[in-house]
Amino acid sequence: DAGHYDTGGYEHYLLKEISDQPESVARTLRGRLDDRFHIAHLGGLNLDPRETRAFRRVKIIGCGSAYYAGQIGAQLIEELARIPADAEPASEFRYRSPVVEHDTLYVAVSQSGETYDTLAAVQELKRKGGRVLGVVNAVGSAIAREVDGGVYLHAGPEVSVASTKAFTSTAVAFALIALHFGRVRDLSPSDGRRIADGLRRLPEQIERIVEQGDAIAALARKYAPHPGMMFVGRVRGYPVAREGAQKLKEISYVHAEAYPASELKHGPLALIGPDMPTVAVVPDDELLDKNLTTLGEIRARGGKVLMIGHREPDAKLAEDVIVVPKNEVELDPILLGIPLQLFAYHAAVALERDVDKPRNLAKSVTVE
Ligand code: AGP
Repeated sequence: DAGHYDTGGYEHYLLKEISDQPESVARTLRGRLDDRFHIAHLGGLNLDPRETRAFRRVKIIGCGSAYYAGQIGAQLIEELARIPADAEPASEFRYRSPVVEHDTLYVAVSQSGETYDTLAAVQELKRKGGRVLGVVNAVGSAIAREVDGGVYLHAGPEVSVASTKAFTSTAVAFALIALHFGRVRDLSPSDGRRIADGLRRLPEQIERIVEQGDAIAALARKYAPHPGMMFVGRVRGYPVAREGAQKLKEISYVHAEAYPASELKHGPLALIGPDMPTVAVVPDDELLDKNLTTLGEIRARGGKVLMIGHREPDAKLAEDVIVVPKNEVELDPILLGIPLQLFAYHAAVALERDVDKPRNLAKSVTVE
């Protein structure tokens, strides 16, 4: 139920929530960046510097989009804080009788704070003495109450079943956590400043992506009639590709597969052809050339490519390109995800789907 919250003149909650992201990201950042020491203030973590230095691993759990945002989070923590980190679906984690380690920090991610699989995983961790933090949007929710500390997103209410602004704010919250951990550990003040400045630029850059809505809608109308689409990305681009495929599936019902770009030749390349276009997430990072080679391989097999990147590729490696403002490499995945939300939204509108309440899905899955 939307309660007091309405679509504010937008046709759907989803478009309102996508368009709200310059503000929701600003709220996630508000009061948390320190100009002087280039650190993040996250008192809610309840961790002193000695404890922060003692963790040897970070394990992030969540379901669906929360899990994909957690995968971005794991990459940020590993890159900026140099702590081995990975993400796993909470639903799998709780059923495989995980070994709970005292020097691992567990982080549960949930927009609603009520997802039963994630809550059950947190309770199992706590029973076994694990230290669990939460990255949660809904204040006072079941998961928020259960964890030892954490970060609230302050993204505001999210009504549409498909998560958008909570996803983006989760990635931003992990960037803050990674900056915080990094500066307690070995991230230099100058790298701290670079990341903090990059975070401050995000709201304005997101605004510039949202302004491209009409152009993205035209692309969505062009691609939506295909029976299926492939989404690919390497390392920083991969969780973005997974979330892009998830959004398209959820609200447009177009079949979408996400693969690491490097895995294409190990199987899914067989699917590529004129009927199976590829959305390629191509950050401007040290893997750019590898990604462009992959685009060439797709094009050589007659596959159309829609590239999401920071500039037009030199050769005609992509039939279509959405150009996204560039930030620091570590933060670029946050920006690259936003055009894919608009793409899925406009594909769903073009196919006349029930955008805010897709069939078979609930906003939060509070049962087993
Ligand atoms: C997102 O678009 C989905 N509807 C779904 O994957 C969701 O992210 C997942 O169920 C987790 O929900 P939560 O963040 O409220 O725990």
